[in-house]
Amino acid sequence: MSNIFRILIVDDEIDMRESLQELLTREGYFIDEVANGKNALEKYSKNKYDLVISDIIMPEMDGIELLKNLKDIDPEVIVILITGYSSIQGAINAIKLGAEDYFTKPFKAVEIKKVIRRIYENKNLTQRNELLTQQIMRSDFPEIIGKSRVIRNLKKDINTVADSNVTVLITGESGTGKELVARALHQTSLRKNTPFVPINCAAVPNDLLESEFFGHEKGAFSGALKRKYGIFEVAENGTLFLDEIGEMPYALQAKLLRTVETKKIRRIGGTEQIYIDLRLICSTNRDLKEEIKEKRFREDLYFRLSTYIIFIAPLRDRKEDIPLIIENFIQKKRIPNMIIPPDTLDTLMAYDWPGNIRELENVLERILLISKGQAPTPDSLPADIRNANHLDSVIPDTTSGKILTLEELERDYIEKIYRICKGNKVKTAKSLDIGLKTLYRKLNKFAINI
Ligand SMILES: Nc1ncnc2c1ncn2[C@@H]1O[C@H](COP(=O)(O)OP(=O)(O)OP(=O)(O)O)[C@@H](O)[C@H]1O
Ligand SMILES: [Mg+2]
Repeated sequence: MSNIFRILIVDDEIDMRESLQELLTREGYFIDEVANGKNALEKYSKNKYDLVISDIIMPEMDGIELLKNLKDIDPEVIVILITGYSSIQGAINAIKLGAEDYFTKPFKAVEIKKVIRRIYENKNLTQRNELLTQQIMRSDFPEIIGKSRVIRNLKKDINTVADSNVTVLITGESGTGKELVARALHQTSLRKNTPFVPINCAAVPNDLLESEFFGHEKGAFSGALKRKYGIFEVAENGTLFLDEIGEMPYALQAKLLRTVETKKIRRIGGTEQIYIDLRLICSTNRDLKEEIKEKRFREDLYFRLSTYIIFIAPLRDRKEDIPLIIENFIQKKRIPNMIIPPDTLDTLMAYDWPGNIRELENVLERILLISKGQAPTPDSLPADIRNANHLDSVIPDTTSGKILTLEELERDYIEKIYRICKGNKVKTAKSLDIGLKTLYRKLNKFAINI
């Protein structure tokens, strides 16, 4: 091993400390061990450790508190927690606080060795890259286009969760960029040099899904002519992206939950429990809360998957991004001299884009094709976009033929957005690009209550 990799083990049980020390020293790591959180903090302040492995349940300072304190000393600290199955919820919460991973007792030596190996290799790779270029890449995400508050917050969200192993649920309408964000998350994470494996739960026939996920042994069922590895094994070490998770059959959801909790799978027809180390990212364009009510989605699975939710607002709520996306598209197509005339742009801006960025890209593709190098006129746009009634999209009530006053319009608009955000004031204020205080004042003034 080329570099010294220092690990601090924290556990009040001496047996556990000793067995871990023995195991990891044999692997070539440099080990220190302490019996409680206080000593761990002292040691960590004096020496730099590449990894801290701590038990969760300890007298006085528990592992979660230790994690918080370590993060205060060094926000980059990498912590793995060890927990019994009964306190698994604590471990999952700890991931939210920035723990890298957790293990449930009893675990096998190979399991923990594998995870530490990945962290070790990543440290070496990272050291090789120039720090500065790394930092620029991390915060920038040049492939995610937009200057709206939505996009700025989205990039912040990605940076917040990328480094940890937290399970992320990405929600948003079709075409809003969920897969793009999932890939950006992977690229920014410690797993960036490992595979990103996307699977669309809606695209695989129901009867094949289980085998697709967990794999099967030869002869597990008629037609199983040889062993097949499921996507959990294929994505080992990397990031598994479960697209359209809302489409997953109810029965399979229970198996997925178990896998997420124990991080173990069993191939169909197999007996062996196989430990899997991966990052899970899910996406959905359905309202999972609604699906739970309709008994189509398991609530317990939802809680496991939604440790961190990234919501991508539809394009109609961030129309200021449209010109940038168009510009970027033109650059991508290598026709940098192409100009979209103002009246064409106005028409594009007035439309509500139910298919979001994907629809916008398709329309651009089409108009650039039919305008053959000339600046595309509004006439080149599809009829439904040309005919989009500008007033309809802005004024909520035109049916009565009455023109709304500016104040009425403001009231209706705030109420509409407030409803779309399901009464979430922070989200509403963000979408409207106003301060929270201003929002409270206006909700009060207009007596808006949903
Ligand atoms: N902010 C953005 N900047 C640039 N391109 C974007 C952005 N958001 C989405 N796109 C592009 O729009 C297209 C659709 O994105 P993506 O496939 O990620 O959407 P999605 O939310 O996964 O859609 P669906 O729910 O239909 O699967 C892709 O070509 C993607 O690159
Ligand atoms: Mg998608």
